[in-house]
Amino acid sequence: MRYYIATDHAGVAIKENVKQMVEDLGHEIIDLGPFSTDRVDYPDYAHKLATTVLEDSGSFGILICGTGIGMSLAANKHHGIRAALCHDAYTAEMARAHNDANVLCFGERVVGIGVIESILKAWSATQFEGGRHTDRVTKIEQ
Ligand code: RB5
Repeated sequence: MRYYIATDHAGVAIKENVKQMVEDLGHEIIDLGPFSTDRVDYPDYAHKLATTVLEDSGSFGILICGTGIGMSLAANKHHGIRAALCHDAYTAEMARAHNDANVLCFGERVVGIGVIESILKAWSATQFEGGRHTDRVTKIEQ
């Protein structure tokens, strides 16, 4: 799979670790920035990533800010983006299995590196279940 990643200044410190983890899971990952620790506005990067994911059908996105909240709020303004704020492996698994989420959000100030690894593994290993969940996801889009 192809993943895109973007953060704000509060997510930069762990971005390289996350990129390596995604590659270790066998995926391609493309960094949309930022590339310094200067303060930036999270919506700018959420919108950039959401637009890119929508243009590259079947790709996934990862957004990191301090809490993950601002990134998820901004990304979900894009029709076709289902951004899920995940705190652990269970929420990551359910985001894929039940919600067909295509953007993973988490907070650098909320979850540690071990939990992030378990989130990424669960997300990567889980397919959308379809079935009864398909109509529900369709209702989101409508
Ligand atoms: C930045 O201080 C912080 O507000 C941002 O990273 C994020 O947590 C917003 O939701």
